[in-house]
Amino acid sequence: MTNPVEIGPILLVGFMGAGKSSVGAALASELGCNFVDLDAVVEQRAGQPVAAIFSAEGEQRFRQLESEALEQVLSTGIECRVIALGGGTYVQAENRDRIARSSALVVFLEVALEEAIRRVRYFAGKRPLAANREAFAKLFEERRPAYEQAHFRTDTTNKPIMAIAKELAAWVREQERQ
Ligand code: S3P
Repeated sequence: MTNPVEIGPILLVGFMGAGKSSVGAALASELGCNFVDLDAVVEQRAGQPVAAIFSAEGEQRFRQLESEALEQVLSTGIECRVIALGGGTYVQAENRDRIARSSALVVFLEVALEEAIRRVRYFAGKRPLAANREAFAKLFEERRPAYEQAHFRTDTTNKPIMAIAKELAAWVREQERQ
């Protein structure tokens, strides 16, 4: 492995099923950085799974917990980190503002709708917003303009995870040199 990258956090954004967690873990190991999954931070802080937060306290409460978790991960830790956000994190304007005030690099992982549907099918129980196909497709379109504000983007639809991780690692190392 080469030296760990010396750069601010790398945030992966994109829709459910875009591959944020799997690409994030591969990218972190490629760069010699730690990997953080924001949903896992929310779950740890709340002491319950995301789906339970949605059903017991509603989406609005989840968004509040998510923003707090984002604040925590952005304000602590100086070591290099790759952070997979939840599908809705970057869609909230206040979260985007908070991220813009940080030194984070933001990467949009694109995915075709049909592929996203295929990927989340078996985990729909864990994703309250993936329960209904029409609502899922509508959200997919509505969120795109927010994701497009990222610094860099790549399509994950037909690419192996390692190929995406290598492509992103090369881009990150270029940012480090600038
Ligand atoms: C959500 C996506 C989920 C999780 C929650 C809400 C969303 O994360 O944060 O179910 O609003 O798109 P993944 O994108 O990792 O599935």
